[in-house]
Amino acid sequence: MAGLKNIWFIFSIFTNAFPVHYSPPDGFSFEVLNDMTPVQDDPLLFDTNVEQRVNDFVSAAIAQANVTRTNHIMWTMGDDFNYQYAESWFRNMDRLIHYVNKDGRVHALYSTPSIYTDAKHASNESWPLKRDDYFPYADSTNAYWTGYFTSRPTFKGYVRMLSGYYLAARQIEFLVGGSFTSSLEDPLGIAQHHDAVSGTAKQHTTDDYSKRLALGASQVEKGVNTALACLTSSKGTCMSPAVKFSQCQLLNISYCPSTEEQISGGKGLVITAYNPLGWEHSDFIRVPVNDLHLVVKSSDGSFVDSQLVEVDNVTSNLRKLYVKAYLGINTDKPPKYWLVFQASVPPMGWNTYFVSKPKGAGSNRMGYVSTIASPSKDTVEVGPGSLKMTFSSASGQLTRMFNSITGVDLPIQQSFLWYGSNNGDGADSQASGAYIFRPDGSTPTVVSRSVPLKVIRGPLVDEVHQQFSPWIYQVTRLYKDKEHAEVEYTIGPIPVNDGIGKEVITRLTANMVTNHTFYTDSNGRDFLKRVRDYREDWDLQVTQPVAGNYYPVNLGMYVTDGKYELSVLVDRAVGASSIQDGQIEMMFHRRILHDDGRGVEEPLDETVCVDRKCDGLVARGTYYVNVNKLGHGAHWRRTQGQKVYSPFLLGFAHEDESSWKSYSVVKASMMNANYSLPDNVAIITLQSLDDGTALLRLAHLFQAAEDPQYSVMAKVELKKLFGKKTIKEWTETNLSANQKKAAMRKLKWRVVGDTESGPAPITGSPVDSQSLVVELGPMEIRTFLLKL
Ligand SMILES: *[C@@H]1O[C@H](CO)[C@@H](O)[C@H](O)[C@H]1NC(C)=O
Ligand SMILES: *[C@@H]1O[C@H](CO)[C@@H](O)[C@H](O)[C@H]1NC(C)=O
Ligand SMILES: *[C@@H]1O[C@H](CO)[C@@H](O)[C@H](O)[C@H]1NC(C)=O
Ligand SMILES: *[C@@H]1O[C@H](CO)[C@@H](O)[C@H](O)[C@H]1NC(C)=O
Ligand SMILES: *[C@@H]1O[C@H](CO)[C@@H](O)[C@H](O)[C@H]1NC(C)=O
Ligand SMILES: *[C@@H]1O[C@H](CO)[C@@H](O)[C@H](O)[C@H]1NC(C)=O
Ligand SMILES: *[C@@H]1O[C@H](CO)[C@@H](O)[C@H](O)[C@H]1NC(C)=O
Repeated sequence: MAGLKNIWFIFSIFTNAFPVHYSPPDGFSFEVLNDMTPVQDDPLLFDTNVEQRVNDFVSAAIAQANVTRTNHIMWTMGDDFNYQYAESWFRNMDRLIHYVNKDGRVHALYSTPSIYTDAKHASNESWPLKRDDYFPYADSTNAYWTGYFTSRPTFKGYVRMLSGYYLAARQIEFLVGGSFTSSLEDPLGIAQHHDAVSGTAKQHTTDDYSKRLALGASQVEKGVNTALACLTSSKGTCMSPAVKFSQCQLLNISYCPSTEEQISGGKGLVITAYNPLGWEHSDFIRVPVNDLHLVVKSSDGSFVDSQLVEVDNVTSNLRKLYVKAYLGINTDKPPKYWLVFQASVPPMGWNTYFVSKPKGAGSNRMGYVSTIASPSKDTVEVGPGSLKMTFSSASGQLTRMFNSITGVDLPIQQSFLWYGSNNGDGADSQASGAYIFRPDGSTPTVVSRSVPLKVIRGPLVDEVHQQFSPWIYQVTRLYKDKEHAEVEYTIGPIPVNDGIGKEVITRLTANMVTNHTFYTDSNGRDFLKRVRDYREDWDLQVTQPVAGNYYPVNLGMYVTDGKYELSVLVDRAVGASSIQDGQIEMMFHRRILHDDGRGVEEPLDETVCVDRKCDGLVARGTYYVNVNKLGHGAHWRRTQGQKVYSPFLLGFAHEDESSWKSYSVVKASMMNANYSLPDNVAIITLQSLDDGTALLRLAHLFQAAEDPQYSVMAKVELKKLFGKKTIKEWTETNLSANQKKAAMRKLKWRVVGDTESGPAPITGSPVDSQSLVVELGPMEIRTFLLKL
């Protein structure tokens, strides 16, 4: 944040760097199929080498100790793909420990990171304090490991979508009882592996990860369908639920059998929206329908404005291909329209909407059929609310974003470009690949300078459809009452018949002086300041001007000048940068024809096959753009970030409206009436554990000094979180919930030099057992086990 001083936290973490990868020193790997020298101590055989191996051990230990503070060192005995035959490792380690200790020059033992940490701490040594992270990382001149920030974008999207879904499903499981979410626990855990979600596994391994996720998700989906019926049943019982709910995981490609179904007779389409956020959430629901004559009513019986938007051909074609690819189903006619309406759902609760054929008074409340505007003037202005965008009629390019309420007005352009993947050249055989981003030159190719523009207007949403090329389509949506533009890109199949791998970016170019600086999130939490070609704590030489300035973006990124903040949020992890002042670029997809030599041994060339015909993978995702006055962007980034991660969970059913109402609770919150979390706090976990205990994690969403109003102590009234359920017992624990907070011991580390520690971070005080009010300081996460 501009104007924000860096505040260094006194909470430091002890870390360690190893001289050789995360493997033992050279000569001490005992992987059976590799070239290795076992410890041969059997005098009846040839080649005994105990003395030599002990000497090797001692000199390797001393060499490492020579670059390590204190005389405790750690050897990590193993590496990727090791322990195919563990006996080989353990037999040799047993012998080494035995003979090395007999020798006595050094002492060797089997250890753990915590034993090591305790030994380091006991030495009372002072340690250097490192304040930034290690991104981006390179292991040689042209080998920046910044490609994997984007590799396999649809897998990254799938993992992110299911993580949010799993969070919502666990809440529903907590509310209803039962146990139906565990089938996603393992697949999502496995997907966090450093070669899984990173996109650096082989294709067949990635397919295995996806299959595990899909199987888990379909189990959870069944559980949620039943649970939604129980949750909304006014009898408060789960016996033979009266209603059959279904969900649609492929709404992104307009496939949803339950909403596409004809609405006929007395029955209407029931849409139950569950909101996992701790705040009321008002958002637009979009479902594919086949009928132009529909009305939407809310749970109190009143009509809700709706709008119909024609399903574009790109989406219809994607639907046809991918429904076949994923489900093996030949779909007949694609749905004609998206039905769009605004839903408002209480915190940790649900609301129900009814879609039906109009009768009597309803017939003038039918959905507004969007109009297609033909550009008449030099510029086209879009946006039904206070936020507007203008596009040039001639080139189709975005030119400006402004907001009549906040008064911001920013000239801005947007384009798609691609970097050609370097195949390795005479000077350096390093190719771009799953891990490594090595563009062929630092100037990407512009996909098109002029794009046809199609503008669709209506009272709820204006859409701008742009076909940048046969393989890049983009829809920009400006919804009424939203502070941001929602931009959906569809990229692929990336053409490679010219023999060139391509790494596709979008670039926003604003008229802003940003002084080499931009901000990217760290694991969705703190935003870290990034300065191009610069590190605060060492003299940096950047040997790849683009790849060497890429950072991972999980939540979002922003740039500022003296006046405005330009922020983007993403729906999945991507690689991003600001290569020139005023710019934000994000890499959304990459298709590469060579391997980069870091272990995948395959080119990153994702394809999708239907009826034995394969083509490059299409990736569709969404990013969100907001312009705010300097100092006002954080609230949007933090709250919208939660909304992106935890959208409504939608359940669909076909029921008669009045009988449905007679046996259902159409709207409710699990929290006390009118209670909601403050804007700076989110529920990041609410889960029933096997013994019936509830695990609750609350997180403060703002970092210190990020926002004058919200970077302050927040308060949550635990008693009001659970409505009629009362808290009988509670304990606060550490983050992983397997140690009581009272028993936690924090090591204090001495720091080298005169470090200016800054003000102590604000943290919540112990919870008062009467009031049960939980305080959270900026970025604080607190974990509780509750008996209700
Ligand atoms: C220890 O480090 C110093 C300085 O880098 C070097 O001169 C010396 O050879 C090293 N000793 C051993 C045993 O590695
Ligand atoms: C650690 O070192 C500091 C500074 O030398 C000294 O004041 C302190 O007493 C030492 N603590 C222990 C436990 O040895
Ligand atoms: C889809 O394509 C058909 C035929 O090319 C065209 O007539 C129609 O207008 C297109 N529909 C949309 C929504 O773009
Ligand atoms: C620009 O950035 C440099 C390096 O971070 C910093 O030293 C300087 O103060 C900044 N200038 C302005 C005007 O913010
Ligand atoms: C649509 O969503 C599914 C499920 O999340 C995902 O696997 C797929 O990649 C998405 N489709 C496209 C074209 O991005
Ligand atoms: C909740 O708020 C509404 C409207 O502000 C009010 O009428 C109602 O009494 C409140 N309910 C409770 C339990 O405070
Ligand atoms: C919580 O405490 C347990 C027991 O000491 C420990 O194993 C675990 O690593 C701790 N979790 C965290 C996140 O520190």
